[in-house]
Amino acid sequence: MNDRDKELAERILSLKERRNAVILAHNYQLGEVQDIADFVGDSLELSQNAAKTDANVIVFCGVHFMAETASILCPGKTVLLPDMNAGCPMAEMITAEQLRRKRGENPGATVVCYINSTADVKAESDVCCTSANAVRVIESLGADDILFVPDQYLGHYISTKTGRKMALWPGFCPTHARILPEHITRAREEYPGAKVVVHPECTPGVIALADEVMSTSGMVRFARRDDIAEMIVGTELGIVYRLKKENPGKRFIPASEQAVCPNMKLITLEKILWSLEKMTPEVKVSGEIRLRAKAAVDRMLEIGRSD
Ligand code: 13P
Ligand code: SF4
Repeated sequence: MNDRDKELAERILSLKERRNAVILAHNYQLGEVQDIADFVGDSLELSQNAAKTDANVIVFCGVHFMAETASILCPGKTVLLPDMNAGCPMAEMITAEQLRRKRGENPGATVVCYINSTADVKAESDVCCTSANAVRVIESLGADDILFVPDQYLGHYISTKTGRKMALWPGFCPTHARILPEHITRAREEYPGAKVVVHPECTPGVIALADEVMSTSGMVRFARRDDIAEMIVGTELGIVYRLKKENPGKRFIPASEQAVCPNMKLITLEKILWSLEKMTPEVKVSGEIRLRAKAAVDRMLEIGRSD
């Protein structure tokens, strides 16, 4: 951390105490943001942490749907997202109205929504999932008729893994779509001893070339294994900071230098400080939407991780 970041970090930490706030950060956040967070994790762990915190304020260092999920789970708390422009393009690829229409065409279908979705879409869904528990969520369903939204690639991966047929909404993550099969092939040639670990938001062509497919925190745990010395990382670049910090001496090779989520990078130390000073911008989900979305999220939280 440089001197400017150190000064900002000190001011954030002292204001955080005064506000009785907790700082939650996703694994893709900037290194200096990860360093000042109380907890860094994947989407599932962040939801679990939000649900159990006794802080009055949650500063969410991630994207909009994550802050919404925290608000859904903690109606009495103030949830701050230090930059309101930090959205997730995939979550915007389906609206509640589109989902209602699709549901109308398949009235018997069980709707499973990836957590990367708006609160309005969650409210129209039966159960939610993250990349860490998607396989177990699908396996827990008795129904044969499943509609999965919005990530077609995660949906395709779980469908292959579980053998369950699913109708897929054609959404995708633009950041993971930048990782191409030739990137994996090239990296393998250069680092023949490395394990290739990719996120299930990657395209099927990339997933087919991987040794392991995991959520971001699944990757963090995998990297700690004694038998892992080199890893080709097929996900957003922010996670490489954490992997290197926790595993000095091991080598982590990004599958593609292009896999950067610009929305995740909108959260900076300056904006976190400003947000805690002004207690804005706040993300709030309320009323009937919150209750219906909460039912889908709660149902997910009862099911354990798959990775
Ligand atoms: P996880 O951290 O839950 O694996 O999700 C990755 C992601 O794309 C979050 O937007
Ligand atoms: Fe959305 Fe992809 Fe960015 Fe995650 S990495 S927030 S899925 S755009």
